[in-house]
Amino acid sequence: MSGPRILLIVGGGIAAYKACELVRLIRKGGGEVTCVLTEGGAQFVTPMSLAALSENPVHTSLWDLKNEAEIGHIQLSRQADLVVICPATADLLAKMAAGLADDLATTLLLATDKPVLAAPAMNVRMWQHAATQRNVAWLRQAGVRVMEPDEGAMACGEYGPGRLPEPEAIWQEISVLLNAGADPLAGQPEFDAQPEHRPLYGKHVLVTAGPTHEPIDPVRYIANRSSGKQGYAIAAAAAAAGARVTLVSGPVTLATPPGVDRVDVESAREMAQAVNAALPADVAVMVAAVADWRSEDFAAEKIKKRGAEPPSLRLAENPDILATLAASPQRPRLLIGFAAETEDVIANAVRKREVKNVDWIVANDVSPARGKDTMGGDSNTVHLITQAGTENWEPMSKQAVARRLVERIAKALVDG
Ligand code: PMT
Repeated sequence: MSGPRILLIVGGGIAAYKACELVRLIRKGGGEVTCVLTEGGAQFVTPMSLAALSENPVHTSLWDLKNEAEIGHIQLSRQADLVVICPATADLLAKMAAGLADDLATTLLLATDKPVLAAPAMNVRMWQHAATQRNVAWLRQAGVRVMEPDEGAMACGEYGPGRLPEPEAIWQEISVLLNAGADPLAGQPEFDAQPEHRPLYGKHVLVTAGPTHEPIDPVRYIANRSSGKQGYAIAAAAAAAGARVTLVSGPVTLATPPGVDRVDVESAREMAQAVNAALPADVAVMVAAVADWRSEDFAAEKIKKRGAEPPSLRLAENPDILATLAASPQRPRLLIGFAAETEDVIANAVRKREVKNVDWIVANDVSPARGKDTMGGDSNTVHLITQAGTENWEPMSKQAVARRLVERIAKALVDG
């Protein structure tokens, strides 16, 4: 990352002192920081400390006419690559969700056209309050990246989620967002800025992605080549279309798309549990490459090399998460599976749709000739198999597959 520009809004909470450490980390990472200190924030840190650490003037007031003449609050909100709020108090999150602009910080947040990252910090009950959770959900749907607060003992003596994430974790998140590109919704279809006007607003979309790892012993596991890219692209597209998205993810190295609730799992059995816990959902898109088998015996200690004979591995069948969901009383209204096939792609996928009793199957060819581009790669050539027949989609990026599929989902929900 070369010289990203961060606009850092420091809210009014005891955790504000950690913003100083964040400024230091951004500077150390080669970034430039301009700080905006709210009236509350100034109760905890001084403009002088932030100015000294950032080596930039600190902005505190909307009514600073000198700054308005020289910079202007609109320009200040747009000249950064990323806007970071640290700490994001319950009050700041509520004002953002309501679209209020009664001081410099909230005015900048309303005027910015740049991605916004919020690192919340507040009392545990304030964080868990329905109003805060509603505001956070709304902001996530609107594309704001709201981090989960840390859990632990709080300055007020209570215990639970609400502590500011460590500055190192915030800095890591900043790096991920900057490397992901300036606009978290980039490449997504043009949707109305208001989440409630988007086609999947009010719908819960459940997506599975990535491989599963089936442990053999504490250091070895059975896995496959799925990277999670196709499932993550679908989760991102559904969130951009206004849905509440739960992404149940096997072990991958991808960043969580903005507006998506991610649940990390390792094995197929954990994935089955997480899918069940996420219900009810209006739509489920099961993209994960779930291992069909696991090792029947998990060795509590690392299996040693003994003698000439390698150990034999006995396999047990994993639950079929998709088929179980199809038979569940909580079956989503639209249930979509993916099929990775190496031969007779369409015929096998048509059969899978019937056997698993799902509405749509998205079939893709993962034969050695094609598979490297698909599993782990950036593009996909898919066939959408529905009750009406088979549509052959031209080769395209995984993002494009995701966008087209989400458009089809939105249409199917409207058409009933
Ligand atoms: O992750 P990427 O690198 O982007 O690659 C994307 C992909 C190739 C993994 C993806 O596009 C894909 O094809 N996913 C499905 C892979 C697969 O496991 O197919 P399957 O034919 O074995 O399973 C059919 C369906 O049943 C899938 O929806 C799968 O999630 C589901 N399944 C399978 C086994 C099982 N035990 N439980 C399941 O729910």
